[in-house]
Amino acid sequence: SNVVCLERGRAWRCWTVPPPPNVGWLCCCCWQLLHMWITPLLCPSCKAVCPSSTMASPLFLSRGALPRLAYHRLAGHSPGIVFLLGFNDTRANPKCLALEQFCQESGRAFLSFDYTGCGCSDGCFEDCLIGHWKNDVLTVLDELTSGPQILVGVSMGGWLMLLAALERPGRVAGLVATAIAADAFITLYRQLPPEVKDEVEQTGVFNYVMAGDRSVLLKREFFTEAEEHSVLGHPSIPITCPVRLLHGMQDQLIPWGRSVQVAEQLESQDVHITLFKDGQHGLKGAEEVKVLVGMVRDLAESLQRAPGLGERLEAAVGTEPADGAAVTRQGDLFGPC
Ligand SMILES: *[C@@H]1O[C@H](CO)[C@@H](O)[C@H](O)[C@H]1NC(C)=O
Repeated sequence: SNVVCLERGRAWRCWTVPPPPNVGWLCCCCWQLLHMWITPLLCPSCKAVCPSSTMASPLFLSRGALPRLAYHRLAGHSPGIVFLLGFNDTRANPKCLALEQFCQESGRAFLSFDYTGCGCSDGCFEDCLIGHWKNDVLTVLDELTSGPQILVGVSMGGWLMLLAALERPGRVAGLVATAIAADAFITLYRQLPPEVKDEVEQTGVFNYVMAGDRSVLLKREFFTEAEEHSVLGHPSIPITCPVRLLHGMQDQLIPWGRSVQVAEQLESQDVHITLFKDGQHGLKGAEEVKVLVGMVRDLAESLQRAPGLGERLEAAVGTEPADGAAVTRQGDLFGPC
């Protein structure tokens, strides 16, 4: 079927898959009508895309020819918190709201935003690749924040968090992730049954079914491009800041072993993993959210007590080996393997 993107009440069609062949002209018009206007009315997840009625309406970051990004920012002291949403997730995520509230109450800087094609941001979801969303994170870090930041990523946001920390070691003071989905779409594709993979090769698209029976069409290119952003495909991940990982042991989507693997491969020695035996993928129970907020608070406060944090981060980047072996800004993010 055609896929409909809703942007602040306007419907955009994304031509990922053409209408069924051999249906006459009139039928094609009905098809259009159905997908442009009726589906969004009937489909609550479409209406929930831009939840401005319940939340402060976002501001927009213009980026020339690139789609604008919707964001919400609180001014406050450093290190600030940057929240990185999961795949097809909105700022109504309870962990995002709880952290925003914590920052509001404690006067800490906070930023959340929607990736390209997601939530209230411009662009078409179906055209997005992991690289686009990674660039969104980098742009937001560069343009909308200053000084050291703690990145908090949920699920796919945890993967993007690692990619951003690799590229901006001078800006990232600490990392916190729930159900870190490092390399998730790479492993997902590798684990598809051969017949499904063949079908994806032939049709060029994969119907990815998410929680709540929602599904999105992902292009084959989405998976091939994801390979370029693998973090676990290298023996070590050259990130040295403190990292806190939280994971539910009942997570059906990303097994908790993924957090252990990330912890093992990180160069940082200051890595803690917290497991919730009855925790699901979302970790959105009241107690789980409370533990997350407590961890972010403790990490932020301990970093804040460390004198000259910002200068030390910048200085550490400046002292990379002159031969460029571990230089992280030249495109090759990993040292020699
Ligand atoms: C979720 O995916 C649909 C496409 O299936 C897209 O229209 C929508 O904007 C996405 N929402 C978010 C928040 O990413």
